[in-house]
Amino acid sequence: MQRFDGRVVVITGGGSGIGLATARRLASEGAKVVIADIDADAGKAAADEVGGEFVATDVTSEEQVEALFQTAVDRFGSLDVAFNNAGISPPEDDSILTTGLDAWQKVQQVNLTSVYLCCKHAIPHMRRQGKGSIVNTASFVAVMGAATSQISYTASKGGVLAMTRELGVQFAREGIRVNALCPGPVNTPLLRELFAKDPERAARRLVHVPLGRFAEPEEIAAAVAFLASDDASFITASQFLVDGGISGAYVTPL
Ligand SMILES: NC(=O)c1ccc[n+]([C@@H]2O[C@H](COP(=O)([O-])OP(=O)(O)OC[C@H]3O[C@@H](n4cnc5c(N)ncnc54)[C@H](O)[C@@H]3O)[C@@H](O)[C@H]2O)c1
Repeated sequence: MQRFDGRVVVITGGGSGIGLATARRLASEGAKVVIADIDADAGKAAADEVGGEFVATDVTSEEQVEALFQTAVDRFGSLDVAFNNAGISPPEDDSILTTGLDAWQKVQQVNLTSVYLCCKHAIPHMRRQGKGSIVNTASFVAVMGAATSQISYTASKGGVLAMTRELGVQFAREGIRVNALCPGPVNTPLLRELFAKDPERAARRLVHVPLGRFAEPEEIAAAVAFLASDDASFITASQFLVDGGISGAYVTPL
C-alpha cells in the first residue's frame, strides 16, 4: 500500500513510542514525514531513519508550533496530515487529593493546549488546499474512569476528545477530517519496566482487557495510517478506539 505517496505528514512526539511507530508506517507507505519533538536526539534519529525532516519543537509554544507547520509547507509544498500526538503522563499527576496545581497545569499544557495550538496552526494550511486530515491522540481514559487516577491526564484527554469532535464538525465541508485516536495501554519500555517490578499492578489492568495483552505501538500506528488516509474518507469527528476491547467489556474471558 502506498496511501501516502507524495503526502506531507507532521508527527508531534515522533521521536518515540506511538509517534515513532507511526513515522515508520507512514514513511513505508510513501509519506514525507516531518518529526517534531522536544527531544532533539530522538527526533533527529527518527527523521534520519525515515528519510524525513526534524523540526525541534516544544508543542506548548505557539511560536514554535506555528513555525513547525510553516516549515513543513515551505520544505515539502503542502500539509496533508497532522498527527498531534505528543503527550506526557508524569508520576506527580495522581489522585486529585495529592496532585498540585503545577502538575495539573503542566499536563494540561503538554496534552491539551498543544493540540489546540497544533490544530489552530495546521488548519489554515489545509483550508487553503481544500483538504487535510488531522488525528489527535486522546486515550481510552477519555471515555472511562480509572480508580488508579491520573486526574489531569484524564481530563486533558477528555478535552482532546471534545475539541476534536467540534473541529471535525466545523471543518467537515472544507475537506478537512479531524479524528481522535483513543489507544488502550501500549507496551512501551516504561510500562514494561513498571510492570516487571510490580506484576500485581500489571494483573490489575490486564484483567480488563478482553484481548488479554497490551497493544504494540505498531498496532496503534496501523490505526493512525487508516484514519489519516483516504480509506477513512467518510470518518470525521470520531473517537476511534484501539483498545483491545476494554471499553466494551463487562466480564472478560478467563
Ligand atoms: N503509551 C500508552 O499506553 C498510551 C495510551 C493511550 C494514549 N497514549 C498517548 O499517546 C501519545 C504518545 O505516547 P507514547 O506512549 O508514544 O509516549 P512516549 O513518551 O514514548 O513519546 C512521547 C514523545 O513526545 C515528546 N514530547 C513530550 N513533551 C513534548 C513537548 N512539550 N513538545 C514536543 N514533544 C514532546 C517526547 O519527547 C516523546 O518523544 C501521548 O499523547 C499519550 O498520552 C499513550
